Parts: sequence; structure tokens; C-alpha cells
Amino acid sequence: MSNTSVIPTNDFEKIILERRSIKSYNPDVIISREEMEDMLKKATRAPSSTNMQPWHFLIIQSAESKAKLLEVASPTNHVKLETASAAIAIFGDLHYTTRAEEIYSTNVELGYVTEEMKERQLAAVLQWNSPKTEEQRRDIVMTDCGLVAMQLMLVARSHGYDTNPINGYDKTRINEAFGLDKKRYAPVMLLALGKAADEGFPTMRLSPDKIAQWL
Ligand SMILES: Cc1cc2nc3c(=O)[nH]c(=O)nc-3n(C[C@H](O)[C@H](O)[C@H](O)COP(=O)(O)O)c2cc1C
Repeated sequence: MSNTSVIPTNDFEKIILERRSIKSYNPDVIISREEMEDMLKKATRAPSSTNMQPWHFLIIQSAESKAKLLEVASPTNHVKLETASAAIAIFGDLHYTTRAEEIYSTNVELGYVTEEMKERQLAAVLQWNSPKTEEQRRDIVMTDCGLVAMQLMLVARSHGYDTNPINGYDKTRINEAFGLDKKRYAPVMLLALGKAADEGFPTMRLSPDKIAQWL
């Protein structure tokens, strides 16, 4: 099916205020690899601690891979994951410093920093990150991956799609299901992403006086 019913928007208020977690999607809408990569490029403009970009995405679209995912997903989440054009599993890469050299060298290639600045920055980044315990690294990747997940949800809306963030799955089994090293990749959340087939439910938000302190 062509995606003519998918209407992109740049209306920021509409993107954030009308976002709802969507429970079912039009299963006939196919999102191309090109468009998915475009959305990922935009989503990964999200900030991350020392720009380590410690995220890893599984873009699950084939029937075979979806079946694997459903085995570890709570039954309450099956319909959204089955009907979504893409079910996305987001993991935090606990070995994120292995990418430091590539990230900081690319800054030199792009002319953002000199070779000398890069060497200084890279040394500082490694000095900051290397002594971190696994618990501290988990904390860092969970924060960074939460930011990229939110950005992906908003980017999806700008492309005319909707999403549902999902924690209802077995995080102790998902690595094994997809052959990902448990010690390296920490499960963060799933996202169902596709063309909405329902309107979701209205939900309230606590007012600023309940959730903020002015000091
Ligand atoms: C980290 C996270 C995990 C969630 N897990 C689930 C889930 O497993 N199943 C589900 O239906 N919704 C899940 N939700 C959606 C929330 O229920 C929803 O965001 C909340 O009720 C507010 O509704 P809204 O997203 O429509 O504004 C999750 C949301 C977040 C942020």
C-alpha cells in the first residue's frame, strides 16, 4: 500500500501536544529503509553524555523477527507490536567508549576541531568514562537512550507516524532472542512505530505546582 495517508508535519505544538501512545497501527503501511534511516539520523541528533551516543537499535520489521519479539513481549503489547510498521528495540551500549576514537576523529575530518584538540578531548573523555562502574555506565546509557527514544517518537510524528513506548517485555530474555551480548547491550525499551489505526486515549498531566519546586 502507498503511504499517501501518512501526512508529515512541522507543527511543533501539534507534534508534542497531540502525541498519544497508539495501541494499533495500519499493518499495510511499509516504512522504507531510507525513511527509517532518515528518522534515525534526526533522532540521534539527541544529546548524549560526552557525545558517546551509546544507543543501539534493532529495527524489527520482518515477520520472522517480529515473531521472536512477540515471544518476549507481554500479551498486552502484542497488537501494537504486530501491527506497527516497525517495532524498535532500543539498547544501551555499555561498551560505549569503544566508539570514542571514531567519534572524535570524525570531528577532525569534518573540520569541527583540530587534531590537537581532538587528542585532548579524547583523553579527557576516556579519563572520565573508563573508571566508571557497570552501574554508573547503566545510569549513563539509560539517560541517553531515554532522550533518543523521546526524540525518535517526536521525529516519527513529524513524518506522520505515531508510536508507543513499551516496557512490558522480558528484559532478561530479549538479548538471547536476538543474539545480543548481555554484558554489552542493556535493554532500554521497545517502540511500536507506524501509521495510527486508533486515536489512543486522552491522558492527564500533573500541574507544574505538583511536580516542580521554585527555589
Ligand atoms: C518507558 C515507558 C514504558 C511504557 N510501557 C508501556 C507498555 O508496556 N505498554 C503500553 O501500552 N504502554 C506503555 N507506555 C505508555 C504509557 O502508558 C503512556 O505513555 C502514558 O500512559 C501517557 O500516555 P500518552 O503516551 O498517550 O501521553 C510506556 C511509556 C513509557 C514512557
